[in-house]
Amino acid sequence: MKTVVITGASSGIGLEISRLLARKGFNVLGVGRSEANCRRAEEMILSGNANAKFTCYVADLMQQREVVKVADEILSYLDGNCNGELHALINNAGCVRSWYMTTEEGYEQQFALNHLAGFLLTYKLLPALKKARGRVIMTGSQSHKGIRIHWNDVMLRRRYNPLTAYKQSKLCNILFAKGLNDRYASAGIRAYVVDPGLVNTDIGNKETGALVNFIWSLRKRHGVSPEIPAKTYAFLCEQEPTPEGLYYYLCKEKSYSRQVTAENANRLFGLSERLCGIHYGEVQSL
Ligand SMILES: NC(=O)c1ccc[n+]([C@@H]2O[C@H](COP(=O)([O-])OP(=O)(O)OC[C@H]3O[C@@H](n4cnc5c(N)ncnc54)[C@H](OP(=O)(O)O)[C@@H]3O)[C@@H](O)[C@H]2O)c1
Repeated sequence: MKTVVITGASSGIGLEISRLLARKGFNVLGVGRSEANCRRAEEMILSGNANAKFTCYVADLMQQREVVKVADEILSYLDGNCNGELHALINNAGCVRSWYMTTEEGYEQQFALNHLAGFLLTYKLLPALKKARGRVIMTGSQSHKGIRIHWNDVMLRRRYNPLTAYKQSKLCNILFAKGLNDRYASAGIRAYVVDPGLVNTDIGNKETGALVNFIWSLRKRHGVSPEIPAKTYAFLCEQEPTPEGLYYYLCKEKSYSRQVTAENANRLFGLSERLCGIHYGEVQSL
């Protein structure tokens, strides 16, 4: 049985991916920030399918020490139960903020959760991914287009715009996936980004101000059910031979921003390593 880790598995798109992959016979390890929502997700998935394998770990992925802690818990589970192998890691947890808010490390929250959490978690789980010649899938967004990385003020401390921060974090998702492929495709690890489209979830109604809350409540009504994008994640987890593309929408490759260059991917890799206090290293040392 192949094991898949999914962050943000306690609601929205991540919950549907978990349900679908569990139904397809994967051993699914979810991560969510709230104990209550994690237990609720387990109940929803397991009550609908007695044979499903789904466990949800609790961690606030905005805080780097919690990313490290949950990664260690997952690694010890994989070592004990899965021969140390991880077939896929889906970095899906994400948030929207209305104001400049920071994490324990003093990092802007959308940048920290939407990009850095996945960057650090992937680093920690890389040996298990390498062992399984695994796949890393990021949840991106069409909104990554029409924006650049603000290299001189990546947290947008000087002039904060919540939408710019969100879009930039989604551009980071593709740059990170490209950076991973450039470094580790030769070790059999492949990275992808899924554009889920507009999806009817509560993302804009959590910890946001009245205006964002109101706009999102109207906008999400036009969104599709999370069951629609879940199929693209399942496709990328199951497809053999391993798909060669980078950016996918509805199970098909899609074009992405011209900002996605090797130079920008490298630069973001280096910056993210510094912000997480890690160094990914060479393929041989994995
Ligand atoms: N909805 C859309 O139209 C859309 C479009 C493009 C991209 N996306 C992307 O899709 C991804 C999933 O979003 P969604 O729409 O499914 O929203 P969602 O329903 O709010 O799901 C977000 C998930 O992340 C979890 N989460 C939030 N903060 C966390 C933290 N600090 N630590 C750990 N987990 C945390 C949430 O936990 P709780 O259950 O406790 O809230 C939930 O499980 C995000 O990356 C988002 O940017 C969404």
